[in-house]
Amino acid sequence: MERLIIEGGVRLEGTVDISGAKNAALPIMAASILAPGVNRIHNVPSLRDITTMGRLLTHLGIDFMHDNGTVVLDSDNLQTVEAPYELVKTMRASVLVLGPLLARMGRARVSLPGGCAIGARPIDLHIMGLQKMGAEIELSEGYINARAERLRGATIYLDIPTVTGTENLMMAATLAEGVTIIENAACEPEVQDLANALVSMGARIEGAGTSIIRINGVDSLNPLDYRVIPDRIEAGTFIAAAGITGGEVEIRGCRVDHLESVIAKLREAGIHIEHKPGRLKVKGPERLNAVDVRTMPYPGFPTDMQAQFMALMAVSDGTSLITEGIFENRFMHVAEMRRLGADIIVEGATATVRGVRMLKGAPVMATDLRASASLVLAGLVAEGRTVIDRLYHIDRGYERIEEKLRGLGARVRRER
Ligand code: EPZ
Repeated sequence: MERLIIEGGVRLEGTVDISGAKNAALPIMAASILAPGVNRIHNVPSLRDITTMGRLLTHLGIDFMHDNGTVVLDSDNLQTVEAPYELVKTMRASVLVLGPLLARMGRARVSLPGGCAIGARPIDLHIMGLQKMGAEIELSEGYINARAERLRGATIYLDIPTVTGTENLMMAATLAEGVTIIENAACEPEVQDLANALVSMGARIEGAGTSIIRINGVDSLNPLDYRVIPDRIEAGTFIAAAGITGGEVEIRGCRVDHLESVIAKLREAGIHIEHKPGRLKVKGPERLNAVDVRTMPYPGFPTDMQAQFMALMAVSDGTSLITEGIFENRFMHVAEMRRLGADIIVEGATATVRGVRMLKGAPVMATDLRASASLVLAGLVAEGRTVIDRLYHIDRGYERIEEKLRGLGARVRRER
């Protein structure tokens, strides 16, 4: 099992480049199912989740290649409409093939994703929306069995603005008969990026990025050639890394307009953030302020930055309340942070974090993608050595993280 070894206490200095957004690339890769031919997606990071999606699409009969940041997907001849449990269980986002398969092939057999470390994460809203569009869906033996001669446009209200639910339904609607309106849709930048990619294929979509998305179905789409947006969560994580170590870092290639709530809260915590077109200059304070935060759907503070924010608050000058408004169990990192000396109490959806002067390095274990990022941040500032186990979690969402951190002066290495 690979581990990350961090010697804490270094103020990060220098420049770091942000990679493409994993959660934009994943749905856009799935969109390749919609259009026979050679699809090209640029600025795609080399991550486990991308490889997993590539394996799934290969299983479906799509030729997948990922070279030098560009993914090539030849979806001319799909062989099967089945997404097997062995693949889906390793990544929930596999469910994103459901809508496109139904739209292109009229059938789909996709394993239910199962829960994960941060919550039950059902997909009832994905299924409800497809049923409204005329799909016959039966759940049996852990699989979603779906059929539809041709999906029909419908008005779908989402009880929760589910990100992948919005993406699945938007993709399905591009080839449906008539108009689909998704109400209370997710507004995340990754949803907008998928919509832009679909429009570049010939889809007719309005309102992406707002809570009402209107899709006019068309008869066919053309293969895409598209560049995905930068990863706002990676950018937020590096702002936090500069902030927690009291360093001075330039973050290049990020979309500042996707980071407004993150920048606002990190400035409140005392981090100096100056923005210029496509980059940020960040300077961490001697001591961080204690700030309360609640995670919300976009444009609110992202749940994917909650664990990283908690690491900052663990060494802040005061007490902060962190409320997780999206997932029911996204505090798995708390027990590991306590091992580093953090003073955190969890009651329901709220964690009370009392800042301490100093964390002390210790062996800890990554439990999920963003929790592992928070342990890296804590390790960067902790006195002594921190060893983070189960590194595969972090490799799901951060490209070459130890290389990028070493480039900023951190004392970090990967041990096989
Ligand atoms: C997406 O997950 C992201 N993943 C997550 O990032 C992110 O944390 C999450 O959105 C919230 O922003 C991808 O985009 C691949 P949701 P998703 O459906 O779509 C409930 C990462 O690794 N819900 O918006 O699965 C659900 O239980 C991940 O980068 C239903 O009840 O999240 C949750 O409580 C971590 N029924 C809430 O909605 C449904 O049918 C939000 O879930 C769907 C969702």
